[in-house]
Amino acid sequence: MGRNVEKEIPRLLFDWYRTNRRDLPWRGTKDPYRTWVAEIMLQQTRVDTVIPYYERFLKRFPDVRALARAREDDVLKAWENLGYYSRARHLSEAARIVVERFGGSIPSTMEGLRALPGVGAYTAGAILSIAFGRPIAAVDGNVIRVIARLFGIEDSIARPGTRKKIGEIVRRLVPTEEPGHFNEALMDLGSGICTPRRPACPACPLSAACLALARGIQASLPARDKAAALPRREASVAVIRDGGGRVLLVKRPRRGLLGGLWRFPGAEGKEARALRSALKKQQGLDVVVGKEIFTVEHAYSHFSVTVHVFDCRLRAGTPQARPVPARWVATGGTARLALSKLERMILQRLKNPRDRARTLPRG
Ligand code: ADE
Repeated sequence: MGRNVEKEIPRLLFDWYRTNRRDLPWRGTKDPYRTWVAEIMLQQTRVDTVIPYYERFLKRFPDVRALARAREDDVLKAWENLGYYSRARHLSEAARIVVERFGGSIPSTMEGLRALPGVGAYTAGAILSIAFGRPIAAVDGNVIRVIARLFGIEDSIARPGTRKKIGEIVRRLVPTEEPGHFNEALMDLGSGICTPRRPACPACPLSAACLALARGIQASLPARDKAAALPRREASVAVIRDGGGRVLLVKRPRRGLLGGLWRFPGAEGKEARALRSALKKQQGLDVVVGKEIFTVEHAYSHFSVTVHVFDCRLRAGTPQARPVPARWVATGGTARLALSKLERMILQRLKNPRDRARTLPRG
């Protein structure tokens, strides 16, 4: 989205919010205690359910000192049937902290708020922007959906990188004037217009700027599916034994994937010839590459690999410590060596040929 269009977003949202905002009992106050109680209740519970609880709770515990004085049992009782009771216990504990450590004032900084039990980044952002007028983002599921659509973000929100990107966009958008209204407007847009299944795009104040709508993919965003299938690679390794049945391992370079771990000597691809010449080049060994004995599969974070394991015989050459450290190791004596999962799978299969190699979780 162009920066000029982006700049228009807060104004378009405010114009819409002025006439479409939900009239909710925790709005129209800048009392941080009230905002805090509302945001804790709204963490896992729908607005409609929260309303009567919120009103009763505030009658019963009208300020933070009243809450701090109350027995936890009474707070839990006021929370009955609202669910997620740790919220009530945390609220009770946090009220005492506010009175004892902050003289009865709800902290107005990110650090101060985050130090209270039950207050995470989202809740702190909501309290800071709504009650203290600080331009801080408050990104919940509704906001993620709105931003993913508006900016046409097609990457899965299951990935931390996508959420980070969305958070950065909201931080860029939050205005210094009325940041609380801005955050609440995004929430209202997400819950009333930019709904998960059938977004009401014709009623949306941001439809002209919405990249998902322009591409016709608004209903399929945000994408949640797991990461796309990983690129597949093939590799080959040599099992070379000495007279005593020990196998040859070499050390990986310190930099790069699995740097510094020990591995079976090998090469990219599954061709015996490539393996033979790699061993010659890397270790100066003249090796007869025999038959492929088995394969193992493994998935790393960014690719998956099938490793073809070849039974090899050393015809000439002596493994050297340089340039790539190499050593003979008994297959049962590798406990103290740093090996990757893949090498462990290969060793396991060598020790016990009937063990089927499995693909382990990514790691
Ligand atoms: N969900 C979480 N916080 C909210 C708020 N302040 N208004 C409406 N919905 C919310």
